[in-house]
Amino acid sequence: ATTLGAAAAQSGRYFGTAVAAGKLNDQTYVNILNTEFNMVTAENEMKWDATEPNRGQFTYSGGDRVLNQAVSNGKRVRGHALLWHQQEPGWAQRMEGSDLRQAMMNHVTQVATHYKGKIYAWDVVNEAFADGGSGGRRDSNLQRTGNDWIEAAFRAARAADPAAKLCYNDYNTDSINPKSTGIYNMVRDFKSRGVPIDCVGFQAHLTNTAPSDYQANLQRFANLGVEVQITELDISGSNQANAYGAVTRACMAVRACAGITVWGIRDTDSWRTGQNPLLFTGSGAKKAAYNSVLDALNAG
Ligand code: G3I
Repeated sequence: ATTLGAAAAQSGRYFGTAVAAGKLNDQTYVNILNTEFNMVTAENEMKWDATEPNRGQFTYSGGDRVLNQAVSNGKRVRGHALLWHQQEPGWAQRMEGSDLRQAMMNHVTQVATHYKGKIYAWDVVNEAFADGGSGGRRDSNLQRTGNDWIEAAFRAARAADPAAKLCYNDYNTDSINPKSTGIYNMVRDFKSRGVPIDCVGFQAHLTNTAPSDYQANLQRFANLGVEVQITELDISGSNQANAYGAVTRACMAVRACAGITVWGIRDTDSWRTGQNPLLFTGSGAKKAAYNSVLDALNAG
């Protein structure tokens, strides 16, 4: 196959990208989007600050634009993200305790209900684990509402949209390390107690290499009975093309790895300003990294 999406589809996988609503008037951007990708994540438009800027007042214009563009061009959509300690609207940042818990759960229910039946997978909770060696939760006003906030969010999301796969998503989880093991233990616990979780997202914001145990780490999660998804892939550095190939081959080698999403289209679209971590140049040309990914998808 000659495009990323078609090549991934040969093995039943998808290949996606983050999309910014504000770029949907850019012809170069839209041409690459429509040609190469068959899954879309809204880069910012479905987040809490975007969808509920005032408590109880929901605005879906940006998210709907991204979703409608994708669906009308035959693509599926990953929802990102129902609860995250960043990009909370100001009113929520100022809340705590049971009042915040109520607002959090209402947010999950409202947004998942608005998009009911239209989302392939939701990042229900994003980045809730701490960096470093503790293997524990990150401190946040969300966490301080009680350690059960994550499972409560997953249950609320399932009730609102039973068809969507429900994912936990995080970064610096690319190898077998204390953070990924903390998440692994949570997923194992959720599966044993019947808390609804279907997938784990590995953001994969990388520099130069994929860890040597990248595939083994994906596989240990798959062995818990969840789908694994590479959700925000971008790789900077001179070994970029090789590293993209390695990540793609790791996904292809894990049956439960459902697909890969890169976090933007052209280098100039990336949040990693000046690092050129994506598959297309600023002018929209395919890079060596693109060919590495395409070859790895076609080899699978
Ligand atoms: O839209 C406003 C604009 O009105 C304002 O003038 C401008 C001034 O700062 O800000 C604009 O909003 C920015 C927004 O991107 C849209 O461009 C925010 O400041 C900026 O913080 C925001 O950054 C996003 C970041 O998440 C927020 O934490 C990035 O685009 C987005 O790529 C990034 O994505 C995250 C994932 O959601 C979760 N994983 C990590 C990943 C990278 O940080």
